Amino acid sequence: RHVTWSPEMASKEGYSHFMLKEIHEQPMALRNTLAGIERDEVTKIGAELADARHIFITASGTSLHAGLIGDYLLTTVAGADVHTFTSSEYRKYMKTAGEGDVAIVVSQSGETIDALLALRALKSAGVKVIAISNVMDSAIPRESHLAIYTRTGPEIGVAATKTFTAQLMVLTILAMSAAAARGYVNDDEAAYFMNEMEQVPDVVQATLANNEAKIKRVAASISRASSMYYLGRGLGLPISMEGALKMKEVAYIHAEAYPAGESKHGPIALVEKSFPVLFTIFNDEYGEAMEGNIMEMKARDAYAIGVIPKSLEERLDKVLDIAIPIGVEEPAIATIAYSVPMQLLAYYTAVARGLDPDKPRNLAKTVTVE
Ligand code: G6P
Repeated sequence: RHVTWSPEMASKEGYSHFMLKEIHEQPMALRNTLAGIERDEVTKIGAELADARHIFITASGTSLHAGLIGDYLLTTVAGADVHTFTSSEYRKYMKTAGEGDVAIVVSQSGETIDALLALRALKSAGVKVIAISNVMDSAIPRESHLAIYTRTGPEIGVAATKTFTAQLMVLTILAMSAAAARGYVNDDEAAYFMNEMEQVPDVVQATLANNEAKIKRVAASISRASSMYYLGRGLGLPISMEGALKMKEVAYIHAEAYPAGESKHGPIALVEKSFPVLFTIFNDEYGEAMEGNIMEMKARDAYAIGVIPKSLEERLDKVLDIAIPIGVEEPAIATIAYSVPMQLLAYYTAVARGLDPDKPRNLAKTVTVE
């Protein structure tokens, strides 16, 4: 036998899986996405979002988690009235939605049937629809009034990685633009923000370089767990939800995300020695409350992992079993870099469990049935 490699192997460019390749492609994917964003268009959409009566954000799976970050920023920074929902539940909003509203439909593939049906319903109610997609001329951008593209290149791994962080980038920029249109951020702040955003690809690069070996070790120690929690507050909640989804999708560990404030209203009952709990902590107003949640879990002998800002490393290193410090402090920007350790942890846990992260059982890359 002379052929020792297949075209599929060649396109993995030396990585053992597409998922790992795509995780590593993020610096490039983010640079391309940022370069493709037209400032004038963003300003125009920002003004529309600022004027909207309601903003609806709808998507499925990973794209929904990106939408929830958009929701948090549009609500807290731009003061908008935002409703975010999984596309399969759009019917709930049919009396609320109408003229003067704007919807953002997020779909990597642009072909997810639930998102497409929600789009059609919102559009016929008179809502202006903006699509965020990674696939040019797919159904969702085609049927929307306006489309913004993430420019990550094709994503092969079933579990979305690079398209998620690129969606976060687009949604964050739109939210800041809406805040500027409403006068909640001034020109200097907007310029500072865009400057920080331009550094994100390098921060992601550094996050990969500094943490991969450590995360591999954490993955080995959680690979025998049957269940784990992801806890966060504020922006930390959607990032936790996405981290937990990745873990379920590729490592088949029952991973549940909760608002950290909810953990003592039930979930903590399951926690016993070595139960893994991953805390997502930003440099924001929730730091102290999150520290309290770590203590609660440590008092039950949980295995506490924290994805934390560098500025809190000294303090939280004492209470966590494992600290993964990320070198970006502005929370709205940091969500992108924080997603990287979540992806790596799911990936390496799957590999440690002998699973193929590129071919998770029961899952399809794009779901075209209701
Ligand atoms: C499927 C995929 C997920 C994806 C979701 C939404 O469930 O397995 O990875 O997040 O569809 O896909 P979309 O293409 O609409 O973003």
